[in-house]
Amino acid sequence: MSADTIKLRLAGVGKRFAVAGKPDAVAVDDFSLDIRQGEFLVVVGPSGCGKTTVLNVLAGLDTATAGTVTIDERPIAGPGPDRGVMFQDYALFPWQTVRGNVGFGLKYGPAGASLSTAARNERIAHTIDLVGLKGSEDKYPHQLSGGMRQRVALARLIANEPDVLLMDEPLAALDAQTRTILQDELLRVWGQDRPASERRTVVFITHAIDEAVFLADRIAVMTAHPGRLKTIVDNPLPRPRTDATRALPEFQALVQRIWSLIRDEAYRATVA
Ligand SMILES: Nc1ncnc2c1ncn2[C@@H]1O[C@H](COP(=O)(O)OP(=O)(O)OP(=O)(O)O)[C@@H](O)[C@H]1O
Ligand SMILES: [Mg+2]
Repeated sequence: MSADTIKLRLAGVGKRFAVAGKPDAVAVDDFSLDIRQGEFLVVVGPSGCGKTTVLNVLAGLDTATAGTVTIDERPIAGPGPDRGVMFQDYALFPWQTVRGNVGFGLKYGPAGASLSTAARNERIAHTIDLVGLKGSEDKYPHQLSGGMRQRVALARLIANEPDVLLMDEPLAALDAQTRTILQDELLRVWGQDRPASERRTVVFITHAIDEAVFLADRIAVMTAHPGRLKTIVDNPLPRPRTDATRALPEFQALVQRIWSLIRDEAYRATVA
């Protein structure tokens, strides 16, 4: 598949919520965006602007009330194994070990149906290794730190090898140090070191603008209520991105630019 292939398309998407005794609440309005195969797209915008709503529609967990949403040109009608979702408070199964959590989808979902037990176990071991949890396979969630639990959630997501990763502030609860490490690992999982045509497609929501600039190919900035696309900013910072990237003057300049773009929107959202 060429890197110019459109993987996900939102065209004129709107989402209204019915509110008892009041006019419908318009969460998202006329939102159009094409996300390319292999692209790392980050969405930023003030609290309540509709970021999670857009992600839920892409995940098929919620339906748009206007417009169309497609994956590989097919309408999205519900959740599917081609899309993996990760939320900020992604719950692990407390009664399962790290290995059990990571392998859950492979064992019980469609992603592992065609795999032999040996192939499944190999993939689980490889994924645990990839997120740096080797040696903790037999631990239970309560025996892990917050950062380690987040790694398990990330491993569980990628073990199913979905084409598309939909991530809603997955690192927000972490301390700055763990967060930085997991950003590096996420880029590796996405395929930073592979050609663009072999990468997964990621839609990633964050409030942290430095995180957006570190990760993204493009940054979609949303307006405050109702959520529309304000602008899309291309991120020219070279890959692979490393600690040295954060020290570049271009990095800081881009953080400032994105921040100035959302500042008015954030202010409008706070006083609205
Ligand atoms: N089920 C619902 N019923 C009614 N209104 C809703 C519902 N879900 C979301 N909304 C409203 O839609 C708007 C967008 O919500 P959404 O959760 O998508 O925002 P967000 O950008 O993800 O915010 P945050 O940054 O705080 O996570 C908000 O005004 C919210 O109150
Ligand atoms: Mg949200």
